[in-house]
Amino acid sequence: MQINFAPAAASDAAIVALPVEKDGLARTIWGAIDGATLAAKAAAAARFTGEAGSIVELFVAQGDTVRQVLLVGVGAGGETEWEKAGGALVAKLLTSGATAVTVDLAGTPDKPTAKALARFAAAATQRAWRYDQYRTKLAETAKPTLETVTIAGAPEGIDAAWATQDAVTRGMDLTRWLVATPPNILYPESFVEKVTAEVEGLGLEITVIDEDQMAEFGMGALLGVSQGSRREARILALKWNGAGADAPTLALVGKGVTFDTGGISIKGAAGMEDMKWDMGGAGAVAGAMKALAARKAKVNVIGVMGLVENMPDGNAQRPGDVVTSMSGQTIEVINTDAEGRLVLCDCITWVQKTHSPATIVDLATLTGAMIVALGHEHGGIFANDDMLADQLLAAGRASGDLLWRFPLAPAYDKLIDSPIADIKNVGPRGAGSITAAQFIQRFVDTGVKWAHLDIAGMVWADKAGPNYDKGATGYGVRLLDKFVADNFER
Ligand code: BES
Ligand code: MN
Ligand code: ZN
Repeated sequence: MQINFAPAAASDAAIVALPVEKDGLARTIWGAIDGATLAAKAAAAARFTGEAGSIVELFVAQGDTVRQVLLVGVGAGGETEWEKAGGALVAKLLTSGATAVTVDLAGTPDKPTAKALARFAAAATQRAWRYDQYRTKLAETAKPTLETVTIAGAPEGIDAAWATQDAVTRGMDLTRWLVATPPNILYPESFVEKVTAEVEGLGLEITVIDEDQMAEFGMGALLGVSQGSRREARILALKWNGAGADAPTLALVGKGVTFDTGGISIKGAAGMEDMKWDMGGAGAVAGAMKALAARKAKVNVIGVMGLVENMPDGNAQRPGDVVTSMSGQTIEVINTDAEGRLVLCDCITWVQKTHSPATIVDLATLTGAMIVALGHEHGGIFANDDMLADQLLAAGRASGDLLWRFPLAPAYDKLIDSPIADIKNVGPRGAGSITAAQFIQRFVDTGVKWAHLDIAGMVWADKAGPNYDKGATGYGVRLLDKFVADNFER
């Protein structure tokens, strides 16, 4: 989607969108649009009240031709409401045959802030994202036609606000591509290739760790997961020094299981294809790092992605195996399907030993239990620090990537004590998301602020949302961008 900003709408613009605030229909300035009175009546008859994201489509006579006018509700005019409107407008027009739309702010008496309008433009772009690469027989009428959104009359400061939102959107594109790409195409090595190509020239420092180095580091937990796969594991680390040459203060760590069969504790066949997006945490980290570098965020941050494939095989790890993690802690592997925590723990140890970050945020599609608890409306957050939790919860509300906090407690921690090793990789049936978080916490060094985001329900959607179509959502990129902007760049 091409976003253009223009001082005023061209008088011959074929399709015009007029943003309307809640109950603001009477205040809408129709400008060059003929038949305004009739149009306003028609909109009212369609019960259009300016609710954020609602749209009414009108056709008004213009001389001897017809002009298409879309009234787009922006609710009370907040950032998230303008964002909803941008997504809704593009959802309406994307495959309509229209190639361009002009959003005329001259008709809206209550002007958006530059930030709100940038969010509108970002959502418009994000909502147009599709993954059609393998659809060779898509009907002409199902193909996207909309190419350009021109926004006329944008407020001062729009260029800077849009540059930020554009960077975030480019980051989300990458995350979505990684999440949507089939697991025969996307595996640890190809993940690394794709991401390194996508961030080229942005100034990120790239480290790739292969299996030999992992063995040297003693990453027995991660390597145990990878052991049944023909694909070699990788860790990809991207370092952004936007605040001088110091060590990173923040580490983002992502679970990147490019396909999760469950291993020897194999999953059922129904829905197993979903496990191609079991790398959504790593995908979010890749997208966030791209966005932060692209907008030259004033922060030192390292993104670490643990990339493995979890397969059953004659060489696969067994339930009952004991592995030694890089931290030195031994782990009894009760269930080979609880693999994400085995990958994360070695990544967390590595980043602590090599970069000593003060804060770690990990993201993972870690437990099905998280979906049972929260569905697809919130990601779960666990944290050892209340302020960090509050910062992430606030960033979630502001960005639209919502979070809900869950507890950690010694009583849950006890549930993963092993009779034969230091820790076992699953607890009893209850509190599955919490015991998973407790597992990870055992690898977090004293004094390090840490939050774990279980985003199992958020990276993939079976129905379209405000800024995404069915499929990969790009969850986490906006959240991390906002979290960094509000708490590390001041
Ligand atoms: N990747 C899954 C979690 C998951 C399931 C994410 C469904 C999204 C949708 C994870 O590796 C897993 O298999 N977890 C197990 C843990 C269990 C064995 C303790 C689960 O949730 O069943
Ligand atoms: Mn699993
Ligand atoms: Zn998994």
